[in-house]
Amino acid sequence: MVTLLENPLRVGLRKERVPEPQILVIFGASGDLTQRKLVPAIYQMKRDRRLPPETTVVGVARRPWSHDYFREQMREGIEEFGGGIGSEELWKDFAQGLYYCPGDIDNPESYEKLKAFLAEIDEERKTRGNHIFYLSVSPNFFPEAIRQLGAAQMLVDPAKHRLVIEKPFGRDLSSAKALNRVVQQVCQEKQVYRIDHYLGKETVQNLMVFRFANAIFEPLWNRQFVDHVQITVAETVGVEDRAGYYESSGALRDMLQNHLMQIFCLTAMEPPNSLDADSIRTEKMKVLQATRLADLNNLEFSAIRGQYSAGWMKGKPVPGYHDEPGVAANSTTPTFVAMKFTIDNWRWQGVPFYLRTGKRLPKKVSEIAIQFREVPLMIFQSAAQQTTPNVLTMRVHPNEGISLRFEAKMPGPDLRTRTVDMDFSYGSSFGVTSSDAYDRLLIDCMLGDQTLFTRSDEVEEAWRVVTPALMAWESSNEQELVPQYEAGTWEPAEAELLINRDGRKWRRL
Ligand code: BG6
Repeated sequence: MVTLLENPLRVGLRKERVPEPQILVIFGASGDLTQRKLVPAIYQMKRDRRLPPETTVVGVARRPWSHDYFREQMREGIEEFGGGIGSEELWKDFAQGLYYCPGDIDNPESYEKLKAFLAEIDEERKTRGNHIFYLSVSPNFFPEAIRQLGAAQMLVDPAKHRLVIEKPFGRDLSSAKALNRVVQQVCQEKQVYRIDHYLGKETVQNLMVFRFANAIFEPLWNRQFVDHVQITVAETVGVEDRAGYYESSGALRDMLQNHLMQIFCLTAMEPPNSLDADSIRTEKMKVLQATRLADLNNLEFSAIRGQYSAGWMKGKPVPGYHDEPGVAANSTTPTFVAMKFTIDNWRWQGVPFYLRTGKRLPKKVSEIAIQFREVPLMIFQSAAQQTTPNVLTMRVHPNEGISLRFEAKMPGPDLRTRTVDMDFSYGSSFGVTSSDAYDRLLIDCMLGDQTLFTRSDEVEEAWRVVTPALMAWESSNEQELVPQYEAGTWEPAEAELLINRDGRKWRRL
């Protein structure tokens, strides 16, 4: 066996995983993400002693909050959405490193004020000028915030200044390119962390270990053995109170172009030469370059959108998308998308990848299912010997784990077959539940490790793949043209047809 450790230059040798003291500056700090995810993740890391004591958070937003009010809000977030405060002493210590600096995204004075404030904090908390600017604002504000940070000279030091950009990165290929240009004008690619929280999920990262640390799966991972792949990210929630953002985003921009396509890349890419960020990102890029919608002449054969109508969830009536607060009566924003991708390369030619995601589906579940080909000759033919093809499932949520479905003989004198599962579950094997994706991503950013972040060319290539669907849907902007599905059901009929046409079925999860 050749080990890359023999050649340290080819290995992404992990640095000691304790970052330098730094200030995390969150733009949009009065929003949900800060309270529900970011600050609870930092607190948890502090609790686990994974951060140096000097670590500081500065929230920036328009509301005229005080430091103390910000601290109260964050405390509520940790109590409600995180793992709780633990000891009062720990909280007190943490709260001392939480600050709030009111400011406007488009006002240069706000940046001058912030810059002076950060300099003060650097002195006080010994954070050595290390600043991470996290853009957790509406995507419309990304270009302005980046330009202003550039103009205020706040991203000038590639060793000390980093920029984290939430998804979606752009609205389509041209806006993503434009945004990349804005970024490139003010900083270097190595300072940029385009975040996709699915990459921080334990099971998504396990995909690489599963594929490349085991010798038995990789030989099967190709067109010779695989019939097709289904990637599903289903949610039970509706649009909630996020119509302001979601109306201009929808399921394709909010989920498929980023979360599902990242999972797709890790499932389909070739083995990287090493674990360093660029080797992995280059392989992801290569698979995207070979990917296209399956049938570009007949869009309905490769891309279907949908919107939920009124229905029932857990025995309770729920409104349709059009009746949700803040949604336009004639909105064409999709809350569901299904796509069929083709990969034009030696490994995958002829193997369709079906991706689907939606809100108000019957179950919250995310998984990758590799369905293998049928046996070449079926010798078990009676009704009691019905067999189904093998399926390897990687569950991202819930019950994170992996299972392999195969046929077995039922005990007894008759030859009867039954489908059974061989199962690995994170919870029972490791005795832990996987941690929240944001802590892993935040610490990687603090450490300067870009492996789990999307590179500029990758994000553009992902937009290129979905652009034909985006363009077609946006040019046929009548609400009647958007297929409907009842809340609490799996998909619109058109999406069923997308896969049934190929003699296959969506998995019922
Ligand atoms: C976010 C989307 O990125 O992911 C949300 O903006 C979605 O609309 C969420 O609900 C789903 O994430 P998770 O981790 O709960 O599957």
